[in-house]
Amino acid sequence: MAFAVSTSIGHGGVVGKIEEGSCVGLRLSTSQRLSFPLCRIRVRGQAVIRASDEGSASLRTSGLSNEECEAAAVAGKFPAPPPFVRPSGPQGTPKIAPLDLLKRPRRNRKSPALREAFQETHLSPANFVLPLFIHEGEEDTPIGAMPGCFRLGWKHGLIDEVYKARDVGINSFVLFPKIPDALKTPTGDEAYNDNGLVPRSIRLLKDKFPDIVIYTDVALDPYNSDGHDGIVREDGVIMNDETVHQLCKQAVSQARAGADVVSPSDMMDGRVAAIRTALDAEGFNDVSIMSYTAKYASAFYGPFREALDSNPRFGDKKTYQMNPANYREALIETHEDAAEGSDILLVKPALPYLDVVRLLRDNSPLPIAAYQVSGEYAMIKAGAVLKMIDEEKVMMESLMCIKRAGADIILTYFARQAANVLCGMK
Ligand code: PBG
Repeated sequence: MAFAVSTSIGHGGVVGKIEEGSCVGLRLSTSQRLSFPLCRIRVRGQAVIRASDEGSASLRTSGLSNEECEAAAVAGKFPAPPPFVRPSGPQGTPKIAPLDLLKRPRRNRKSPALREAFQETHLSPANFVLPLFIHEGEEDTPIGAMPGCFRLGWKHGLIDEVYKARDVGINSFVLFPKIPDALKTPTGDEAYNDNGLVPRSIRLLKDKFPDIVIYTDVALDPYNSDGHDGIVREDGVIMNDETVHQLCKQAVSQARAGADVVSPSDMMDGRVAAIRTALDAEGFNDVSIMSYTAKYASAFYGPFREALDSNPRFGDKKTYQMNPANYREALIETHEDAAEGSDILLVKPALPYLDVVRLLRDNSPLPIAAYQVSGEYAMIKAGAVLKMIDEEKVMMESLMCIKRAGADIILTYFARQAANVLCGMK
């Protein structure tokens, strides 16, 4: 039994083998990172690895080789039991009788192997969906408030980015277009132009990478001259049913281009059922719907709106996105979206709304998605630039906590950076 592995030195190439005997026990999923004493390796497929190699240098041993140990044991000489004297604390440590405790939870945290054995939550690149901003231009233009993120040229930069993400195990992407002002109208009709930026980009991506999963955003804001997710009436009211009509056309157009999952992020009432019916009527029964179920009217979307130049021209989004103070209301949306045929329920933002992620997880058997939004990303990046936090550790911890709260998938601008860490290829 041997496994193909790749190391952090060679991107993805097969550079070595783990032979039978050097491994036991653990089942690992594709691309899961493993720590070895000398190198970090990424295992493709399933493999089994011995845990005891890690950190063994610090353990007290007899210093004998395996053969010498065996010979000594055969000769009846066994290692002495570990000394009962405890290592002492620093001078001044109080001398006290031990507490009489039946339970000492620290016992289960005492070594790396035990901690790893009892770890309840695991992250994998398979859990990430990478949001990508696209535009008509040839160049990739940096987004000021989102260091490391770019508006990607759909013909080149987009392809490159997907290529690099796939190299670290990310296969899911969600597209957000920056639409030129000239194409924006009060009814957002560019949203269902079969030759628009999003459908064109989907077709190109599917042609290059047929097996990736493409999520699309269903909402009018990038296409609407008012910057709202729906059609704005003359008195400022966002029209619900008329907007849903447009969203259905948008979703069908995206499905026609090859989208795998359409994701209504608009928060209009009844849009999930309407989109389901529209998709099915056109034969797209297998296209999934990920509905933004509990999407809050959040200030954390600021950098995103800068990226797409999609700030509402007036007012705010509070008549359709949820009040950040509300919890029970998320259940109403959950029951509604699930009953209307949603395949995945999404909570947004993520980290400040972990209670809502848990609420949905406990109240629906559907997969739950959480969106770590632009403002969450920007805060971590800013804190790191100012040297106030450790970027990598905070990034990984925030993602782990979102998963722990009950998210199956996480939409995050950190997807590629975090996957690099998980693969040991930073
Ligand atoms: C719009 C949409 C928004 C985001 C995703 N889709 C912004 C908004 O509702 O104003 C925000 C994502 C982010 O901040 O990262 N339909």
